[in-house]
Amino acid sequence: MKMRVNMSHEFYGKMNQIKLLPLYTAKDLDVLPIAEKILVDNGVPVIEVAYRSELATEAIRILAKSGKLMVGAGTVRTLEQAREAVEAGATFVVSPCIVPEVIEFCIEKDIPVFPGAVTPSEIQSLITNYGIHVVKFFPADVYGGLKAMKALSGPFPDIKFVPTGGINKDNFLDYTTAEMISCAGGSFILTEEGIKKDGTGEWANQNLAELVAKM
Ligand code: 3PG
Repeated sequence: MKMRVNMSHEFYGKMNQIKLLPLYTAKDLDVLPIAEKILVDNGVPVIEVAYRSELATEAIRILAKSGKLMVGAGTVRTLEQAREAVEAGATFVVSPCIVPEVIEFCIEKDIPVFPGAVTPSEIQSLITNYGIHVVKFFPADVYGGLKAMKALSGPFPDIKFVPTGGINKDNFLDYTTAEMISCAGGSFILTEEGIKKDGTGEWANQNLAELVAKM
């Protein structure tokens, strides 16, 4: 029997509303409470912790335990990372690519999973093999951005995209307002470096407040 993703999971509906998916790389766990506060205060109660640092699992554990945000794992390329992340409390998983064992593990655990797909064949394989109808589109700027996603929506009107890569404060609204887009992800929303800029998080808070005010 084929494994199917639970597309009626409430997380998909929430992301269609929140519209922003902060991609966060944790290199200093002490910064996490500030990151959490900035996201909560600005009405973006979600974070994708990227497996791009050795602290990813620990950061997920701390944020999940605190319970203020919906916490997911990003840049998940192996089953081991997916297992670790979910064990630490991640409730969604994002991959830059299609890793069958990651997808199958997430389906078993009823964890929404967002594999990267940019070609018609990749998208169709996710639909056929797993019933996945929301895909990550990465790197969005390199693979044709909004123009490409609009074109893909012709044959795939039942697909929503989570574009990431090259999205910034000047172009994010083009993405978040487009019908075929679930939410836009990336480091333009919140980074540890941004929080550390002034030692208080005020710059990062203001940056996110300005993004949210534009929406
Ligand atoms: C990703 O993995 O989703 C991207 O690297 C995010 O790209 P950005 O840093 O340009 O937002």
